[in-house]
Amino acid sequence: MEDFLWIKNDEKRSMMQSLYKQAKEDRVPILLDEAAKVIDSWLLLLKPDRILEVGAAVGYSAIRMALVSPNSKIDTIEKDPERAREARSNIQQFELVGQIVLHEGDALELIPEMTEEYDLVFIDAAKGQYGRFFEDSIKRIRPGGVVICDNMLFHGFVEAEEVPKRYRTMIKKLKAFHETLRNHPDLETRILSIDDGISISVKRG
Ligand SMILES: C[S@@+](CC[C@H](N)C(=O)[O-])C[C@H]1O[C@@H](n2cnc3c(N)ncnc32)[C@H](O)[C@@H]1O
Repeated sequence: MEDFLWIKNDEKRSMMQSLYKQAKEDRVPILLDEAAKVIDSWLLLLKPDRILEVGAAVGYSAIRMALVSPNSKIDTIEKDPERAREARSNIQQFELVGQIVLHEGDALELIPEMTEEYDLVFIDAAKGQYGRFFEDSIKRIRPGGVVICDNMLFHGFVEAEEVPKRYRTMIKKLKAFHETLRNHPDLETRILSIDDGISISVKRG
């Protein structure tokens, strides 16, 4: 269980604990604790000016990144209107409107329209679409920038011999995405077997 003791401000820590608890109770699939700490560490090292997140849900990971890295500007995309509404409200409550911009809509339509250059892209949306999110967002990452993807092992099914029928197409696409990362000429990638599997790719400078 995350305690958020790293948040020094008592009020913000208590708000974060409530947001986390509520998301778990509502079964919103937020970033798991160990993967979150890996991302915290990259933020602390990289000090990114600009972050793009694909898949905001209710804003937990975007708010967490904003608190860990207060000088980063974050664009986050969410296509589910109800979740986008909750994310917007949470961002307001944390007084992070100046730091996080929530874009409501389908990332597959929104990313190609974006013109900013990002230091870090965090992909955490529909797993079967990772290849497409990646192809769009890699163009927006500066040399030396980082792409982090969550759920890369998807409950162990990516490495399992037997995959339930309902997941087969998605796992096939996720496996193809592993190959894309592994063979990409501009990237150096590692996949960590923590939580649901997290990949870290650094774009060569
Ligand atoms: C795993 S949740 C994100 C959790 C969030 N990053 C966190 O840790 O707090 C994935 C979210 O991606 C959204 N999503 C899925 N496909 C999307 C797309 N094509 N464009 C934008 N959002 C998408 C879903 O609606 C869902 O809320």
